[in-house]
Amino acid sequence: MKNCLCALLIAAASFAHAQQMVSIIPQPVSVQINDGSFRLEPSTSIGVFGNNSDADKVARYLSDKLRTPTGFLFEVKKNDRSSKIRMIILKNKDSVIGKEGYLLSVFRDSVSIQANEPAGLFYGTQTFLQLLPAEIESKATVGEVIWEAPCVSVKDYPRFAWRGLMLDVSRHFFTKEQVKQFIDEMIPYKYNVLHWHLTDDQEWRIEIKSLPRLTSVGAWRAERVGDWGNFTKPSPDEPKDYGGFYTQEDIKEIVQYAKDRFVSVLPEIDIPGHSLAMVASYPEVSCTPGQYQVNSGEKFMDWYANGFTALIDNTLCPANEIVYQYLDKVFTEVAQLFPFEYIHMGGDECAKNFWEKSDAITQLMKKEKLKDMHEVQSYFVKRVEKIIESKKKKLIGWDEILEGGLAPNAAVMSWRGIKGGIEAASMGHKVVMSPNQNVYIDLYQGDPICEPKTYGMVRLNKAYQFEPVPDGVKPELILGGQANLWTERVTNMRHAQYMTWPRSFAISESLWSPKEKKNWDDFVGRVEKQFRRFDAAQVKYATTLYDAIFNPRKDGKGTLEIELTTEVNGIDIYYSFDESNPDRYYPKYTAPLMVPKDAVTLKVVTYRDGQQIGKQINMPIDELKRRAKIK
Ligand code: ACM
Repeated sequence: MKNCLCALLIAAASFAHAQQMVSIIPQPVSVQINDGSFRLEPSTSIGVFGNNSDADKVARYLSDKLRTPTGFLFEVKKNDRSSKIRMIILKNKDSVIGKEGYLLSVFRDSVSIQANEPAGLFYGTQTFLQLLPAEIESKATVGEVIWEAPCVSVKDYPRFAWRGLMLDVSRHFFTKEQVKQFIDEMIPYKYNVLHWHLTDDQEWRIEIKSLPRLTSVGAWRAERVGDWGNFTKPSPDEPKDYGGFYTQEDIKEIVQYAKDRFVSVLPEIDIPGHSLAMVASYPEVSCTPGQYQVNSGEKFMDWYANGFTALIDNTLCPANEIVYQYLDKVFTEVAQLFPFEYIHMGGDECAKNFWEKSDAITQLMKKEKLKDMHEVQSYFVKRVEKIIESKKKKLIGWDEILEGGLAPNAAVMSWRGIKGGIEAASMGHKVVMSPNQNVYIDLYQGDPICEPKTYGMVRLNKAYQFEPVPDGVKPELILGGQANLWTERVTNMRHAQYMTWPRSFAISESLWSPKEKKNWDDFVGRVEKQFRRFDAAQVKYATTLYDAIFNPRKDGKGTLEIELTTEVNGIDIYYSFDESNPDRYYPKYTAPLMVPKDAVTLKVVTYRDGQQIGKQINMPIDELKRRAKIK
């Protein structure tokens, strides 16, 4: 009896341990945890069954991925039943798991990944990797690790076919190797579209052989560091030596690298606004030809509540035939380089003030019976759609392309909330949801007082709330969604990682996992497990989810009252008003605080289980008063 109880307790403990080890993002459709675990050994080989060269590639990918951290060889064998890890393309297709789904079974003595298509094998592989200890992400061999994965049976497939991440390489240049790294970091979370924002006011990054000035002039600007948007304007003779571009060979290499990892690359050529790099290269494309410079981060737009004014004309001229001739050249080459079915034409934030003053635009409006600037823009988009379709591609654009009338076959990427997506879908157009309030990962994720300067706020839980299908919209019109990393203020790869993670964990779950499977508390626990993997992989991430949140308000008497909260449960906040740095022996926050007379700073710090977990934040009382609108 005693032995029996003992065995039961051991079994229960090992099951609890297995449950802890099963911590997958995005959450799979179904996971059954079984007793026991599978162990990688020096002799473990990977067997691929059937004749599919892409399946072979997945096996080699897994072999490469496991080799460095374990130091084992992981030979890939064809149709070899002695292999302990088996990858199988199903002969009898599974109608539920579709093109990207998989069935993963981890037994004590073997692992099987089965799928209808190689993409499914790849995603099964990613899930299997997440079952292994965090050190599997190490860049060097680590001894002393028992390379065990708990026994599980997983059935999994995505909710959406389009699971995108956008990288803006225009504002700051990211090298070919860094773009590959970005791809490597997105694939464990089953993202499958890299939206590559290649052109903007700041620089033009893609070699167009028939228009060489786009890169000889457009890919370069004066170097500046500091407060983006407020830089000093470069003088005409100042060296323009910050920047770079991708040659067509570079692009082919990246597209192939992405394809080998089941990622499609969506190129964006942002027109007719955001085009100063093109205008600087070929001023004849502007309604106001003259001398232009690529923007170096100095002010050139006036942004205000209901629109904006360009101080320098950064737009292409819809009334100018040469624009369409040049764009034909651009899209001919773009279409040849990118196999993805869509090309993104931008279309966002196009200032109209220079068009309004242009005689050529007035004449175009008369000739084409266009009644306002929105219709001028729509005329332009429709012509661009014809060009893109002539290259056998489909057009997608930001939701401004709805203004003045949507082009007949265009897909819409809805960024100013979900409104544009709803409108496009109501007309039967395809939509990718990318609402700024949930998925703009260039925005603040923690308090602006201590985070690198940006604007707006998307905390992790806001990203987790992303729901791509609004009520009343036909789900089949929503291709999926994506997170966007604009890089005006993201100058290097470490910071790109910091902004991307963990918010892109949250967004991946909205795009892959069944809606009913989402659970914030459970997700937070899984995020922490991913952090250990990122530590091993030396990838930077934000820990702002552990920081205190300040909610200042004016009470009935006009006095400042400060509520403090945290995004996640189980965290204690300690504080001081006396300028000293609080620790866990300081007063613990339990109820809204009133500010003692003459105090100038509220300092807070967070702890969990006796360990500091969040940053110390030093908040000026004046800043809290400003936020609470107290004079
Ligand atoms: C955008 O954020 N301007 C698409």
